[in-house]
Amino acid sequence: MTTLTALPGGTWTLGDRTVTRFGYGAMQLAGPGVVGPPADPDGALAVLRAAVDAGITHVDTSDAYGPRVTNALIRQALHPYPASLVVATKVGATRDAQGGWPTARRPQDLRRQVQDNLDGLGVEQLDLVNLRMGDARGPQPGPVTEALETLAELQQEGRVRHVGLSNVTAEQVAEARSVVPVVCVQNMYNLAVRHDDDLVDDLARDGIAYVPFFPLGGFTPLQSSALSAVADRLGVTTMAVALAWLLQRSPNILLIPGTSSVTHLRENIAGAATELSEEDLADLDAIAG
Ligand SMILES: NC(=O)c1ccc[n+]([C@@H]2O[C@H](COP(=O)([O-])OP(=O)(O)OC[C@H]3O[C@@H](n4cnc5c(N)ncnc54)[C@H](OP(=O)(O)O)[C@@H]3O)[C@@H](O)[C@H]2O)c1
Repeated sequence: MTTLTALPGGTWTLGDRTVTRFGYGAMQLAGPGVVGPPADPDGALAVLRAAVDAGITHVDTSDAYGPRVTNALIRQALHPYPASLVVATKVGATRDAQGGWPTARRPQDLRRQVQDNLDGLGVEQLDLVNLRMGDARGPQPGPVTEALETLAELQQEGRVRHVGLSNVTAEQVAEARSVVPVVCVQNMYNLAVRHDDDLVDDLARDGIAYVPFFPLGGFTPLQSSALSAVADRLGVTTMAVALAWLLQRSPNILLIPGTSSVTHLRENIAGAATELSEEDLADLDAIAG
């Protein structure tokens, strides 16, 4: 078993929990379109166990993945959970029969989703609940106070330990922080999508984690001649460069790359340790313009 410090990036403090900056995102363990079970359930369980065996202590999920599929896999693979493991989940959307992600943020919706996550993961308290505002296309402006008041109540009731945000604007982050302590923001961000550059830096100054989703491009792998050139020069994969860049970008960035392959998981852990020079960073900065 690898020790915590052996993972690239070291650790970060999320509220009162310490997590490895190299984490794991479970979304793509569900079936196509994040609906239904995986084609290879045993393979999915093996990836989750390999992640924890490698020392990863931050796993990202949602009851909406499947729905219920990734939570059930996490429970089957890892329950009873190691004390060091932080499982982060999300509320604010459910799934419909067409595989859509309808918004569900009324107090009763959020309470139901928290309960579904508690039941699915088999725990009395959720380590971290992100309130999802916009969707995978980006944030949508709008008030966050009522939803966060519900999560603050659930926190006081002991069902939620820490609160985070997902798909939010800087204004929504500021509004949220006036209601409840926020430990992380999970938005889309990678080498090619850098709308949140300022937000990453602002959150770093305030000790709040930034957790980029689609760190490898998500359903459309990152592709760029500049990225390939840097990867070739260093003799590593483009995925390695993309992950190493995020770790070097700011100390508050936590990685949750997804994979359904133990081989890819191990490649990504090794690759994220790649050291990028000033020249590499300048070439990579040019990708987003
Ligand atoms: N808050 C939100 O709204 C939101 C939205 C989307 C995602 N998320 C979270 O963010 C996490 C990360 O996003 P993601 O998993 O969708 O995208 P990602 O991490 O950017 O990319 C995952 C994809 O990259 C492939 N991949 C990974 N390592 C590879 C390697 N070494 N070689 C070749 N291909 C490789 C995977 O395929 P293989 O399976 O073949 O390895 C998978 O298709 C999700 O798991 C989820 O927890 C949150």
